[in-house]
Amino acid sequence: MNRGPLYTVLFALAVALVCSVLVSSAAVSLAPRQAENQALDREKRILEVAGLLPTSGAITREVVRAQFEARIRPRIIRLETGEADTSVDVEAFDPRRVVKDPKTSRVAPANAAQVLRVPTHARIYEALDDAGGIERVILPIEGKGLWSTLYGYLAVDRDGTTVRGLIYYAHGETPGLGGEVDNPRWRALWAGRKIFDAHGAVRLQVVKGRAGPPEADPHRVDSISGATLTTNGVTHMLAFWMGEHGFGPYLAGLRGAAR
Ligand SMILES: Cc1cc2nc3c(=O)[nH]c(=O)nc-3n(C[C@H](O)[C@H](O)[C@H](O)COP(=O)(O)O)c2cc1C
Repeated sequence: MNRGPLYTVLFALAVALVCSVLVSSAAVSLAPRQAENQALDREKRILEVAGLLPTSGAITREVVRAQFEARIRPRIIRLETGEADTSVDVEAFDPRRVVKDPKTSRVAPANAAQVLRVPTHARIYEALDDAGGIERVILPIEGKGLWSTLYGYLAVDRDGTTVRGLIYYAHGETPGLGGEVDNPRWRALWAGRKIFDAHGAVRLQVVKGRAGPPEADPHRVDSISGATLTTNGVTHMLAFWMGEHGFGPYLAGLRGAAR
């Protein structure tokens, strides 16, 4: 039976309509699940960089949630002073949104990390010891690599200068090159390094060639071969976020309290 060209066109349109409804309703209905999974992934990264992810047994959603609730305390701080600000709701705080709003952020001074705006407040995470005291703090960092913006966390001892770990949870660098920032062997080079020198200047950086162990070479970490541009980005974002416009005042407070 020949139904003519109008039938063919209408049939194709009907199929396209049904498919687009299916795809968009799947996207809408899965969005909350995606957001939940992203939040869970971030909690897992925070625990991992804090050295608090259980080393034995399956790491299930429940294990991550329970460990996060028990050992991590999110806090809002005002970057300019480094002081905690309890007037800002820590749960509702959305770092990506506040940085777009002129009421909660300002234009960043020129910087090599290519950070464009600095928020007035930031959410940090305190990792607690068994007695509930602050053992280390986990600070969010971000900045340009070669192809993408890298988003991660730096874990710092409560002395305000000793690094405990560095982890990225999102980036678009090349797998096998810049993507090696995720390699556990490279990440292991960070623990024990010092952010600041004796005068309070940020000295932590990635260098080409070989850096010594943390005791002998406290401020330098080996670059990744074939990924100098990504690792230069790591140096630049550390310089910015540990500096006076980032967490510098907060970390100075920790160093003062530890003395
Ligand atoms: C397809 C392609 C992807 C690359 N991806 C990266 C990357 O993700 N990060 C990076 O630093 N360099 C990347 N590079 C290499 C840079 O262009 C540059 O050669 C390198 O950063 C220099 O590092 P090296 O001094 O250790 O050799 C890529 C190069 C090519 C051709």
